[in-house]
Amino acid sequence: MQVLLINGSPHKYGSTYRALSEVARQLEAESIGSEIFHIGSDPIRDCTGCFGCEETGYCVFDDDPVNTCIDLARKADGLVVGCPVYYAGPTASLCALLDRMFFLKSTAYAYKPAAAVVNCRRGGASAAFDRLNKYFTISNMPVVPSQYWNATHGLNPEEVEQDLEGLQVMRTLARNMAWLLKCIDVARERVPFPEPEPRLRTNFIR
Ligand SMILES: Cc1cc2nc3c(=O)[nH]c(=O)nc-3n(C[C@H](O)[C@H](O)[C@H](O)COP(=O)(O)O)c2cc1C
Repeated sequence: MQVLLINGSPHKYGSTYRALSEVARQLEAESIGSEIFHIGSDPIRDCTGCFGCEETGYCVFDDDPVNTCIDLARKADGLVVGCPVYYAGPTASLCALLDRMFFLKSTAYAYKPAAAVVNCRRGGASAAFDRLNKYFTISNMPVVPSQYWNATHGLNPEEVEQDLEGLQVMRTLARNMAWLLKCIDVARERVPFPEPEPRLRTNFIR
């Protein structure tokens, strides 16, 4: 089993990476593989709402990591999205990536356990965390809990290293992710995934 960890920071080896590597290390201890994918620091454009992906399952813009993330998430059994907190939210680049990665494509991610991880110097972690969880809870993805909301604190990896409680929250998250993945795997034969109803769309037009 394999978990995809997306590092949504512009810094490849910054604080977010430190938090995600704690998750990855604990997943490994639980015999679950993982990969940390860095979205880079180049611009990531917004979704233009062209609906081009409805036909192909991929974004029409192929010059940034969005389509790679789509493929990696389709292959993975679980997903963790990590992000620094910018003005009490996730970064604009990561939101642009996730908008295009999830829009009209989330059926492929259904029933894959998911979690958000945020890092901030001081405040806004829980607002950013809530925003990221919205992608999972609209996509039938079971959200993996921990012993606290998944945040580490620090301006840089050295400061995160001192956030012993935050790092413990990351390890608990990884243990819970491993447990849920193993439960789903064992149940696969006997408890099929729920059959969805035909989709209703009520656009409040009377
Ligand atoms: C534009 C910007 C906005 C930020 N806003 C916040 C904030 O609202 N709250 C906070 O505690 N830290 C804030 N920070 C600090 C970052 O959250 C912190 O440096 C970051 O988590 C480092 O993660 P990284 O090394 O993975 O990029 C901000 C940093 C930048 C560059």
